[in-house]
Order: sequence, then structure tokens, then C-alpha cells
Amino acid sequence: MSKQGINKRLLTLASFVEPGKVVADIGTDHAYLPIYLVQSGKVSRVIACDINEKPLRVAEKNVISSGLASKIELRLGNGLQVLRPGEVQLAVIAGMGGGTVRQILEASPKVLASLERLVLQPMGDEADLRRWLLDNGWQLTDETLVLEDERLYTVIVSEKGNERIYDPVILEVGPRLIEKKHPLLPDLLNKLTGKYRQVLQGLSQSTKPEARCKLETVKEYLRRLEEVAEKCR
Ligand SMILES: C[S@@+](CC[C@H](N)C(=O)[O-])C[C@H]1O[C@@H](n2cnc3c(N)ncnc32)[C@H](O)[C@@H]1O
Repeated sequence: MSKQGINKRLLTLASFVEPGKVVADIGTDHAYLPIYLVQSGKVSRVIACDINEKPLRVAEKNVISSGLASKIELRLGNGLQVLRPGEVQLAVIAGMGGGTVRQILEASPKVLASLERLVLQPMGDEADLRRWLLDNGWQLTDETLVLEDERLYTVIVSEKGNERIYDPVILEVGPRLIEKKHPLLPDLLNKLTGKYRQVLQGLSQSTKPEARCKLETVKEYLRRLEEVAEKCR
């Protein structure tokens, strides 16, 4: 996904890490983010975790060559399960599917409850992830979009709180992105519109009776997306 070293996407994730916090980078892979966070002086301790040995070995090599082995601890294991409650205040979970991010959060309720902030960068299924956060006592503190190598990435920052959003279109686009009229919002809306137009095309060619009903739902969804786009212009 990323070229060698820190990039715009990882720098954006780093910008949501509050100085001085103890951080866990879940699915660290190369450990570029932990290395940047410590080298820049933003934090002094990171627990870099990965479920797979191979990426963790790469992370170890990078951490050792950066001379930060005493500040970046590497742990092998699944999601937040490698942490004890209270060990870190902030977790970054980036570069994996939204469903995987949700499963990671769901699987470790005690560790999750001890966290102050989540910095998430899901690769898809953003609506489901936002819905899960809101249903489980988290609020959407901030959101941003990053365009890198012609790919659009969504970053969601979440903290504990009470927020209710039921509108599926707002949940898919991102309430904070809409509020701040993010400059890359037109790109996101184009992407979503393209996706649903394709769905519509598939449904219009179907002879199944349930396709007609779905077709109307998708048409309405596209109309709502256009409404959001209009508001953000
Ligand atoms: C595409 S890389 C993303 C690396 C880095 N977080 C980034 O954003 O550039 C995804 C990494 O997550 C790891 N991973 C996938 N599922 C995981 C899980 N349940 N717990 C911990 N790590 C996981 C993979 O082994 C892989 O190294």
C-alpha cells in the first residue's frame, strides 16, 4: 500500500496523535508510523503490533536500524488482544478493511474501554464502522480524507461519547467531512456515485422480482448523495 517510509497518509494519521500519549499501532506492518511518531518527538513510547510474523520481522528490522528499539515495543498477535487495559491511551488501526477494524474493536471490550482515542483508517465499509462506533459509546470526533497515488483514504478519529446518526447516506459519506465541506468531498461523492450507478446498472439488467425494489432503493440513495453534494457546493 505505501511506498518506503512515511507518506502523506501516515503523516495525516500522526497528526491525530496527541503529544505525550502512549500509542498502539495495530497492524503496524513496516512500523513507519511508530518510527515517525517517536523520531519527531511527538510521543516517547509506542507498542507496534501485528498478527503476522513476516511484517513484524520487517518492523523489527526498521525499528532496530532507526535506533528506537528501547521506545518501540513489538508484539505479535491479533488486534487489541496483545494489550492490557490501560497500557496505552490511543490506538491507530489503519490500512485494513472496515470489517476487520470493527472485529478488532469488538473482540477486546476491556482494552477498548480503557482507550481515550481511536485513529482509524479503514479500507472500505466506512458506514458499518461508523455505525458500530456510534452504537458502542463512541462519537465521531473528526474525519478527514487523504488523496495519495490517486487513491482516496478516509481517516476517522473517535472518542467516547454519545452521538446518534441514523441516516445511511451520512454514515457512508462521513458527518464531519460534510460539516467541514472537506475539499476532497467532491472526489468521495463522485466515487460513491460511480459505485451506486454500477449497482443500478446491474439491477436494471436483472429479471429477478426483488431487483425492482432494490433498484428504487438505490435510486433514492443516489438522489440523497446528489443532495449532499449540492449542500456541500
Ligand atoms: C496493509 S497493512 C497496513 C500497515 C499500516 N498500518 C499502514 O496503514 O500503512 C495491514 C497490516 O495489518 C496486519 N493485520 C491484519 N489483521 C490484523 C489483526 N487482526 N491484528 C493485527 N494486525 C493485523 C497485517 O498483517 C498487515 O501487516
